[in-house]
Amino acid sequence: MAEERIIVEGGTPLTGTVQVSGAKNSVLKLMAASILAAGTTTITNTPQISDVEIMADVLRHLGAEVSFNADTLTIDCSNLHSFEAPYELVNKMRASTAVLGPLIVRFGQARVSMPGGCQIGSRQMDLHFAALEALGVVFENKHGYINASVLPSGLKAGKVTLRFPSVGATENLMIVASSVPGATIIENAAAEPEISDLAQFLIAMGAQIEGQGTPVICIQGVDGYRPVSSYRTVGDRIEAGTFLVAGAVGGGPVTVQGFDPEHLRLPLKKLEAMGCSLEIAEQSVTISRQGNLQPVDLQTLPYPGFPTDLQTQFMVLAALSEGVSVITENIFENRFMFADELYRMGANIRIEGHHAIVEGVKRLSGAPVQASDLRAGAALVLAGINAEGSSIISEVRHIYRGYEDFVGKLRSLGATIE
Ligand code: UD1
Repeated sequence: MAEERIIVEGGTPLTGTVQVSGAKNSVLKLMAASILAAGTTTITNTPQISDVEIMADVLRHLGAEVSFNADTLTIDCSNLHSFEAPYELVNKMRASTAVLGPLIVRFGQARVSMPGGCQIGSRQMDLHFAALEALGVVFENKHGYINASVLPSGLKAGKVTLRFPSVGATENLMIVASSVPGATIIENAAAEPEISDLAQFLIAMGAQIEGQGTPVICIQGVDGYRPVSSYRTVGDRIEAGTFLVAGAVGGGPVTVQGFDPEHLRLPLKKLEAMGCSLEIAEQSVTISRQGNLQPVDLQTLPYPGFPTDLQTQFMVLAALSEGVSVITENIFENRFMFADELYRMGANIRIEGHHAIVEGVKRLSGAPVQASDLRAGAALVLAGINAEGSSIISEVRHIYRGYEDFVGKLRSLGATIE
């Protein structure tokens, strides 16, 4: 079968309302956490994206029964028979490593394929190991697999200070700590809204957690979890940010609904600084732009800093602004690979280490380009919405990993896209 491509004809204004789906980076962790309870868990507001399918396959491999009904996902973990996440699945999606913590709790051991390289940069597991070792988990890295087991003396609660507020390490640690008798305090924890969503889910399962969403999380271990009969995944702030950038490119007014604008505080400030008008409501933001875009300086940082997952989309705006912008990427070193593709569309970008100096041009020019990862792929489509002529984006399977019906949603706003 020929590889699917997205073709965008640039220059059409965008207006209307778009609904964001549940957060990819949240639902994958909720699915993994369902392993903790021997019973049936139901998750709603599940995005229909390929990463969710892969996590469903990981759970099925462990022995779970997983079924979908529109955005409702049912997972029965009553009869798990394996504690292994195999290479074939982890290789397709790095976030499969989210099962590490839950498997350690459920089986006292886990065997998870070591994730390989990734298009956006090096993605080690050392922070996960250091955090869990502090509680008494032992790791062995052999034949491409992480073998985790619990020390014969058992797990011990205590204070764990992360060297860097890693999202994945905070999540695995929060899960394991929730099953260890006594109080565990995580310092320098990641504070992303998806961490808070996972904490709320764990609390619904019986966990005792406080401080989620701040750098200090306090956990009181509990003995056993119950399955959650219905939990709604938080709205996807990154998908929302992507459509707000689409509105800024296409002029608007575009209303993006189904997420908490508080989760995008800094990106919204940057959009205003770039000359966009925003109307912020409880669960939606409406964006419009009359004048030219202004340049921006931004640097990606852990939450509540500017999210790395919106960096490429904002680079498209910088590439169209009236002046010089400086974008600094502090989280994933390879994310500037995207600049080379945008360069093919006529953008004026110079990379110096982890800084991109972007000089705005009046209009981009349509070209065949390639999506190197999920967010870069979405950003290329946004660039195509501005560009003169048509742009053909290949490797779009990356986009379907994390955006539900991306083409359909953009078309509903008026984009000429197929
Ligand atoms: C999650 C998100 C991803 C987002 C990222 C940062 C999911 C599925 N993915 O990824 O979309 O871009 O948070 O907000 O939720 N690191 C180490 N050692 C480790 C772990 C991480 O050095 O053991 C480094 C990474 O290489 C990276 C940085 O820490 O440079 C951030 O990684 P982390 O916060 O762990 O991101 P993920 O959880 O992988």
